[in-house]
Amino acid sequence: MKRWLRMQKYLITGVLAICMLLPCMPAGSANTVLYAPDGRTAVVADTEVEVYTSLGWYKTYEETVKTLYAADGRQIMVYLSEVPAYLALGWYAAYAETVDTLYASDGRTIEVYKAEAPLYLALGWFSSREDVVDTLYAPDGRTMEVYKTETPAYLALGWFSSREEVVDTLYAADGRTIEVYKENAPAYLALGWSRSPNPGPLLALTFDDGPHASYTNSILNTLEAYGAKATFFVLGSQAAANPAPLRRAAEMGCEIGSHTYSHPNLSASAASTISREITNTNQTVSNIIGKKPTLLRPPYGNFNATVRSYAGVPLILWNVDTLDWKTRDAMQVAAHILSHASDGNIILMHDIYASTAEAVRMAVPELVRRGFKLVTVSELAAAKGYTLSPGSAYYNLR
Ligand code: NI
Repeated sequence: MKRWLRMQKYLITGVLAICMLLPCMPAGSANTVLYAPDGRTAVVADTEVEVYTSLGWYKTYEETVKTLYAADGRQIMVYLSEVPAYLALGWYAAYAETVDTLYASDGRTIEVYKAEAPLYLALGWFSSREDVVDTLYAPDGRTMEVYKTETPAYLALGWFSSREEVVDTLYAADGRTIEVYKENAPAYLALGWSRSPNPGPLLALTFDDGPHASYTNSILNTLEAYGAKATFFVLGSQAAANPAPLRRAAEMGCEIGSHTYSHPNLSASAASTISREITNTNQTVSNIIGKKPTLLRPPYGNFNATVRSYAGVPLILWNVDTLDWKTRDAMQVAAHILSHASDGNIILMHDIYASTAEAVRMAVPELVRRGFKLVTVSELAAAKGYTLSPGSAYYNLR
């Protein structure tokens, strides 16, 4: 009887133990082994798998462990719950974190464990590619990367070590800026671009009644020599007779305006005459330079509402009259220009007198020396913020 009781006791203990291992397992249900992030395992009924996984258990052992890497190349596997502690001890979560790419000055690269990097750096290796290469620049805009050891040889061949050494920033009278390669800068300066962001005072020299076969060319020679521009208000009749200086002025970037075809007093002319004078000049100029005059200066400065309505372009008068047609004296004309030179002025001259061409030759170098920039009327307007409108009259553009 005592022995039976003892057997019964073991039996009950065994059943209890099984019940504790497999809690609340319904009869006939299959079992699944699940894994905790700290290494524990549990056998649960299939119906409970979802509950356990939602509580942070994993379906495979591999999900509960992670491989960590040491700076010297060692590896270990730890349970997920232990990862933060190992990272705090200096282990790395990814192999790539344990190696450094190092660079030699001759272009070689190697990967070393982080623990070895200081030794390699001491041996002359570099930790970044930028430490071993230089970007060099050619005057014509080419760039290339060379190893630092090669840099002196390339510099000796005419390459530059900074971009700023090969480009110039240039400025237009109307506020535009461009960067050009140094070797192209002279061509841009000749087109009227400037090295200075502040163009200084601006002046519009204007010449009426030409073009003249020799004096217009003489004036253009002076303008060209000093990187200056002017505006020519040409007569259609003169343009037809002397197309070459007109073409040269346009090619130099000078502005071509109309001064009518035969110089009538438009205020005293019939509408049909006004229309014909303007239209014929436009056509003649267009035939020679490929574009119509952009401005109109009525002869004697006389205009009325009819002239305004037929003009089609802005009317440009003047606020400085050199009286060159009257004095025919180069010294007097040059002195008048210089004593009336101020920012935004429009100066009236005539390119049909030897004395005027000589006055320009005397005055332009001095104007440039004083910091004046000699621009076309439209450039002056743009620089001063004017939008010139057809039929409106302008005397200066300050
Ligand atoms: Ni005139």
